[in-house]
Amino acid sequence: MTSHDWDAVVRTWRETRGSSLLRAYSDEVNRRLLRRWLPQDCGRVLKTDVFDEAVAEGLSPFLAARAQAFVAIDASPETVAAARRRHPELDARVADVRALPFEAASFDVVVSTSTLDHFPSRAGVEAALRELHRVLVPGGLAVVTLDNPRNPLVALRNALPFRPLVLVPYYVGATLGPRGLGAALESVGFAVEELAAVMHVPRIAARALRPPLRLLLAAERLERWPTRFLTGQFVAARARRP
Ligand SMILES: C[S@@+](CC[C@H](N)C(=O)[O-])C[C@H]1O[C@@H](n2cnc3c(N)ncnc32)[C@H](O)[C@@H]1O
Repeated sequence: MTSHDWDAVVRTWRETRGSSLLRAYSDEVNRRLLRRWLPQDCGRVLKTDVFDEAVAEGLSPFLAARAQAFVAIDASPETVAAARRRHPELDARVADVRALPFEAASFDVVVSTSTLDHFPSRAGVEAALRELHRVLVPGGLAVVTLDNPRNPLVALRNALPFRPLVLVPYYVGATLGPRGLGAALESVGFAVEELAAVMHVPRIAARALRPPLRLLLAAERLERWPTRFLTGQFVAARARRP
């Protein structure tokens, strides 16, 4: 999927009650994860896409409040423009996460929520992880989430030859489960500190049934169950550059 395709996704995005609920659910789940995994003072922070800021509140207000400096990138110029319209204070730049326009050791924290799971092959995921490692200072933290292929619904959806827009309104690519993500992070030099599974209510159920947000969030208790990697739609890793 090229940056033009992502431009089209944002251009044709329709805000409905279902999509707004899903975005609020996703934002809150990610904020809770970051609250748990990041220090109060995060220093210089990079976020690897601004899709969530282009279509909803996103994570930027939360991250900017904890950062001394906050920069976000996205490969899609229209997504960057839409994110800036919603968040005029946002320092958002057009860039490819596989070739970041930053010097080595420029950031203390990198947050990458479902950016790297849209490449045709795992080589793309690994190239991006190498870049995240390069731009972090020694001791810096990366939080990475990817579509979780251990979840049977996600695996089925990703295996379909075509995907109805109601399932997911954009291309999904190669991804890694908890073990694969841990191994890929370690192969580029990270030390993996924690793995988790998040968003335990299937997107389609949230969209179709539109339960109150608090019920969706209550389902996140499944994160503590031994079955978490079967129910979570995303696998999440906290990894440190030694
Ligand atoms: C599914 S959306 C991200 C979802 C969102 N972060 C969330 O948490 O729900 C994928 C985003 O990654 C961006 N993207 C795709 N390929 C990219 C690349 N190579 N470098 C940077 N951004 C990229 C797209 O433009 C899009 O905004």
